[in-house]
Amino acid sequence: MNSPNPHPIYLDCDPGVDDSLALGYLVASPAVRLVGVGTVFGNTAVETGAKNACDWLALMGAGDVPVAIGAKKPSNGEFHGGAAWIHGDHGTGTVTLPESGSTPVDRSAAELLVDLAHRHEGELQIVAVGPLTNLAEALALEPRLPRLVRRVTLMGGAALHPGNISPVTEANVGKDPESARIVFAADWPLTMVGLDVTMRNTFEEEHREALRASGSRSAHHLADVLDFYFDFHIDVYGRRCSALHDPLAAAIAAGGIVPTLAPTVAVDVDDTFGPGRGQTICALGGMHRGFPAQEDAHCSVALEIGTPVAPHLVDVLTTLP
Ligand code: BDR
Ligand code: CA
Repeated sequence: MNSPNPHPIYLDCDPGVDDSLALGYLVASPAVRLVGVGTVFGNTAVETGAKNACDWLALMGAGDVPVAIGAKKPSNGEFHGGAAWIHGDHGTGTVTLPESGSTPVDRSAAELLVDLAHRHEGELQIVAVGPLTNLAEALALEPRLPRLVRRVTLMGGAALHPGNISPVTEANVGKDPESARIVFAADWPLTMVGLDVTMRNTFEEEHREALRASGSRSAHHLADVLDFYFDFHIDVYGRRCSALHDPLAAAIAAGGIVPTLAPTVAVDVDDTFGPGRGQTICALGGMHRGFPAQEDAHCSVALEIGTPVAPHLVDVLTTLP
């Protein structure tokens, strides 16, 4: 059933296998309306990610959603190639998506985000599932952005869970810690969906099969792309399955999944060049007292999710064309 008032969402992403699930979720969820997509370097080069976003959107029946190319590299460094061993050479496992012929708009992702924030003042939600370079650029372009936006939900960081690119650092934050630090410090309500929850919720073969068998062409392609991603996770979990990083952030932003524990606490990002570079330092000292309120804290850190995530994703993704 369509929600009477779906709220507008801008997705910032680096597609990427799990980014594609997030994209599909936001297209399909009746609770939200995807109004723009920006891409950033990360799992692939930014142009490859933008082409993937265009092709996925066309396949998903949402070819009218504007896609903008964003940052090619971190604010303080170079792009050293994507994560082909996780997401495949082109961000789609071993699958070649149907060519849409659609092209990105003639604006940067940061410009598109600022335009959308003005057009949907007080309503726009940002879902960020790649390095945070575009969001930091948008904050520099429009310092009032935190007052224009309703909430930022990002996949990134790790509060109590080990990191995935260093012992303490998660990939999206670690690929541009300077930008992440700016985004976490900005005065907007922010939900951090980090490895604490994304690594504890998996997509299994039965869920992939359900996508494939659903009769949805988009869901079938998502199942195929997941095949390669499942192989990567054998070394992580000891079986073929996957973590649910980006789609969990999308589902939380859309309200389809509600964290059962997400204290609002101060979060800082280590942007020094020591062994903690890219760590999200979350002030969780109140954990044994039920997390008393912290003055000026504006980051909710998702620590527990009650509902099983994978069946919910299957339900939503199989409504795609
Ligand atoms: C994050 O890194 C990327 O590889 C995934 O797409 C996800 O956004 C997980 O650390
Ligand atoms: Ca991503």
